[in-house]
Amino acid sequence: MKFFADTAVISEIRELADTGLLDGVTTNPSLIKKSGGDFIETVREIATITSGPISAEVIALDHDGMMREAEVLRKIADNIAIKVPLTPAGLKTCKALTSDGTMVNVTLCFSAAQALIAAKAGASFISPFVGRLDDVGFNGMDLIADIRMIYDNYDFSTEILVASVRHPMHIVEAAKIGADVCTAPTKIFMQLFNHPSTDAGIAAFLKDWEATGQAIG
Ligand code: G3P
Repeated sequence: MKFFADTAVISEIRELADTGLLDGVTTNPSLIKKSGGDFIETVREIATITSGPISAEVIALDHDGMMREAEVLRKIADNIAIKVPLTPAGLKTCKALTSDGTMVNVTLCFSAAQALIAAKAGASFISPFVGRLDDVGFNGMDLIADIRMIYDNYDFSTEILVASVRHPMHIVEAAKIGADVCTAPTKIFMQLFNHPSTDAGIAAFLKDWEATGQAIG
């Protein structure tokens, strides 16, 4: 499973990159607002940190506008994935861009039907929002399982990019289902390291080692 940092905060992206676990980055207009940075400059800086896919989202709602904005965004670096919303104009844009060799991440997916048509439009990534589904009383992971089944039935190459991840178990459950990518805030990936028995084990080993009076090297 690939790990994408779901943030536009450079320090958070660097923190995950330092672990060696970073495979890409996703941004959206809300994350850009939260970071406080200039959109284009931020994406350009992210491209100096990772050679993995970097999602940059269009703002226009019509096909021509999306194509114009995509043209600006894809020039930033070779690894930009244009992010489009799951609308008729978004999927039309998806088809045009992917036919031209540009990566596209179709975002704001909340149903298996939407995931099916995104794959038919040639999406590189489909982004189902599991946390926001959980928020309104649906099990987000059921959607991931449904999409996995549909994509496997037809050998769609669209990667399932689990988004709106809120806690480590979302990542574990997505991995059990066989999702291709999880995008999450760095803090959640760092939580994957945690186990109290690991901390207790290290403390016990160190105590016993000190008692031996030995040193390595
Ligand atoms: O990748 C989409 C993500 O940023 C949305 O997350 O927590 O705002 O639902 P959230």
